[in-house]
Amino acid sequence: MTHPHATPSRRALLGGGLAFTGLGVAGLAGCMTSSTMDGDGGSLKGLVGPNDAVVAQVEAARGTPEATRTFALTARRTEIDLAGQRAATWAYGDTVPGPLLRATAGDRITVAVRNDLPQVTSVHWHGIRLRNDMDGVPGHTQEAIAADGGTFTYDFITPDPGTYFFHPHVGVQLDRGLYAPLIIDDPAESVDFDKEWVVVLDDWLDGIMGDPDTELETLRRNGSGMIGQGSEIAYPFYLVNGRPPADPETFQAAPGERVRLRIINASSDTVYRVALGGHRLKVTHKDGIPTLPKETDAIIIGMGERYDLSTTVGDGAFPLVAMAEGKSGQAYAVLRTSASAAAPPEDVQPDELTRGILWAPLLSGDDHVPRGQERAGDKADRTITIQLGVRGGRYVWTMNGKTFEEADPFVVSRDEVVRIIWQNMSHMPHPMHLHGHSFRLTDGGSWHDTVLVGPMGAVAAQFVADNPGAWMMHCHNIFHAEAGMMATLGYRA
Ligand code: C2O
Ligand code: CU
Repeated sequence: MTHPHATPSRRALLGGGLAFTGLGVAGLAGCMTSSTMDGDGGSLKGLVGPNDAVVAQVEAARGTPEATRTFALTARRTEIDLAGQRAATWAYGDTVPGPLLRATAGDRITVAVRNDLPQVTSVHWHGIRLRNDMDGVPGHTQEAIAADGGTFTYDFITPDPGTYFFHPHVGVQLDRGLYAPLIIDDPAESVDFDKEWVVVLDDWLDGIMGDPDTELETLRRNGSGMIGQGSEIAYPFYLVNGRPPADPETFQAAPGERVRLRIINASSDTVYRVALGGHRLKVTHKDGIPTLPKETDAIIIGMGERYDLSTTVGDGAFPLVAMAEGKSGQAYAVLRTSASAAAPPEDVQPDELTRGILWAPLLSGDDHVPRGQERAGDKADRTITIQLGVRGGRYVWTMNGKTFEEADPFVVSRDEVVRIIWQNMSHMPHPMHLHGHSFRLTDGGSWHDTVLVGPMGAVAAQFVADNPGAWMMHCHNIFHAEAGMMATLGYRA
C-alpha cells in the first residue's frame, strides 16, 4: 500500500503516544472579542460559493434518489433529568440526544427545522458528503436560522452509508443538548448482526455547572477550567445516550447474539477510552466507512469521531465504559443478556480499558473506496501543511499561527489530489474535522472525516477534491474551534 511519495509515514507520525496530558493555559487573555463558529475565515472572493451552479450540478450527479425521507426538528429550551438532578438546557424536542434520524444511502432527506431558541442556530450534518449549501454553516453556506421562531428546510442527498450525527454550527451550542444520531443504512450491508446499539457519548455541564457560553468566557478570561495537567473542563457528568452512570441505560440482548455498536462522540471537550467488559470488539467502520476489520479490547474516540464495532455477547450483565481521557469520571451503560446477573458497579473499570487500544491512526483501510475517491492514493497535486498551536499562554487556538478571523482560506482546485498534514505543536489532542469530504490516512490508513491528532503528533491524509463549495476545517473540541482553531477550505471558482 505504500507508494513512493508517502512521506512522512503514518507510523512515524503518531508521535506523542496516548498519554493525553493537557497543556497548561495560564495567564489572562485580556479583553477579547467573541468569535463565532459562523462567518469569517477570510474572504471567499474567487472561490466557489454555496449558491454557484456547480454545487447543484454535483448534487444532480449523485443520482436520482429512490426515496425521500421527511423529518422535522424543533430546537428549543427544555429540562432534562440527570439521575434526579434537573438541568435546564437546549435540545431538539425534549430528549437528549435528539431523535435518531435514519435513511438509506442514496435517499434524499428533508428536515424542516424550527428555531425556538433565544439565539440563532443552524444544523450541520456531520460527516455527510453533501451539497455545500445544505452544510449548515451560517455566514458560509446559509443565513443563520433566526431566534424565536425562524425556520429553514435542509434538503440533500445522502450518498454514503454509515454512522453520523448532527448538531448546530453556531457558537458552543453543541455543548448543550443539541445533538442526535443520523444513521444511513447500507443497501449492501457487510456486517452480519442481530441487534444494533447506538451509543452517543457526551460531556455535560449545561444547567448543572453554568452553561457553555459562560464556560467559554471563563476559559478565555483565565483558563481556570483547567484541571491540572489533564484536559480543560472538568464536567460534572459524562453521559451515554443522555444518562449519567447513576441512572444508566440498559441494552438488552440474548447470549450469543451479534451486536453492532455504533459509538458517536458528541462531546465538546472529552476524548474517551471505550471498552465493553468481558468482550473483545471488532472495529468494522470508522466515520461510516469500512476499515480492515480489527479486534481490540478498547478504542480511543475523539470528539466528532464515530466507530462501528461488533461483538458476540456473553451471558450476564456487562459494563460499557467510556473513560474520560485525562480527566476523572466516565460514562457508563449496561449490556444485559441475563435477567438475574447483578449489574456491575457504575465506577467499574474493566481490564479491557488497559489492554490493547486502537485509535484512528492505527486503523487500516480495506479495499472500499468512497465514490469519487478512486485517485485519493495517487501522488498529491497539492499539499497543505497545518500546524496546530496555541497562542502564548492565552486561550487562543491557531492553525499555522492564525485564528479563524485572521486566516485566509486554504484553496484547492476541483479534481486535485489534496494532501493535508496536520502537525500538532501542542500538548493537547485535536480531533480535526473537514466538512463535506472523507479523507484517507496515508500509507494504507483508513478513511475518516474526523481524525484525532495526538499531542505533539501528526497525521497525513489525502482526498480527491470532488465536492465544490466553502467548507469548514476545524478542531472538534468546540471550545478550541470557537477560540480560533478553524479555517475554510475553498475551491477555486
Ligand atoms: Cu461536527 Cu464543523 O462540525
Ligand atoms: Cu483542539
